[in-house]
Amino acid sequence: MTTFPPSPAPQARKKVTTLAFRQKKEQGIPIAMLTAYDNPTALALDRAGMDAILVGDSLAMVVLGYENTLPVTMDEMLHHCRAVARGARSALLIGDMPFMSYQVSVEEAVRNAGRFLQQGGMDAVKLEGGRERLEAVRAIVGAGIPVMGHIGLTPQSVHQLGGFRPQGKTALTAKRLVEDAILLEEAGCFGIVLESIPTRLAAHISGKLSIPTIGIGAGAGCDGQVLVTHDLLGLFERFTPKFVKRYADLHAEMQRAFGAYIADVQERKFPAQEHTVEMPEEEWEEFLGTGRARSEK
Ligand code: KIV
Repeated sequence: MTTFPPSPAPQARKKVTTLAFRQKKEQGIPIAMLTAYDNPTALALDRAGMDAILVGDSLAMVVLGYENTLPVTMDEMLHHCRAVARGARSALLIGDMPFMSYQVSVEEAVRNAGRFLQQGGMDAVKLEGGRERLEAVRAIVGAGIPVMGHIGLTPQSVHQLGGFRPQGKTALTAKRLVEDAILLEEAGCFGIVLESIPTRLAAHISGKLSIPTIGIGAGAGCDGQVLVTHDLLGLFERFTPKFVKRYADLHAEMQRAFGAYIADVQERKFPAQEHTVEMPEEEWEEFLGTGRARSEK
């Protein structure tokens, strides 16, 4: 029989707050963040000591099978947020505001951000965009909801950007990104994701801000790092961005396990004795006798 090592006992960890994020930056301690969309993954991330868990709208691509992040809805995001919130005790939980949940009006942005905390069990929200989002950021922060910004490659603008391509590679666009980062900090963001921008630009932005930057494809000069968990685990097969480091190949491992199960079923090796339920002999005899008595009537 296959045995699995027991999960490590949950560490007694303090809840990570947005204040702790800023303190980590001040102390030069890198922040570790990954995505989760379900309860067992949240449990494992939390037990491993992750600082923050992002319920990313990457859910659309890596779990729901869409081409990009645009189709995922508020209700779908909240459904997955609740599963994550039931699994994580210590990590700061950040809900990613989906496409069209904050762009139409500031009122809708605040209402939807509130749903992430009230109905999704999140501690904070993340939204994409720079100067064009300042009003929404200010209003959400004004409602007492911590906001993480996200600039550089913003996947919800994939059609406007002409694909999932690195940003800020010219002097002009780099300058715009620096300005956006400063404006987001001034608007009240507690942190900013920098996605797919040149390493030295990300380090430059990180040096300009007092809030932490969390990089994805933005090099080691950021104050923290985030990846999509399905990329890191080798669970997303369609493509792997250059900036991903794979720590496991779970897709191959799943295929191996499923293949072994099929073979066991076909060869009648599963279920074995230890997977079955027994019945006391005398009960079985009585059962057979009852059956006979009935059929003799
Ligand atoms: O949706 C997501 O997972 C994200 C990360 C890539 C930062 O926004």
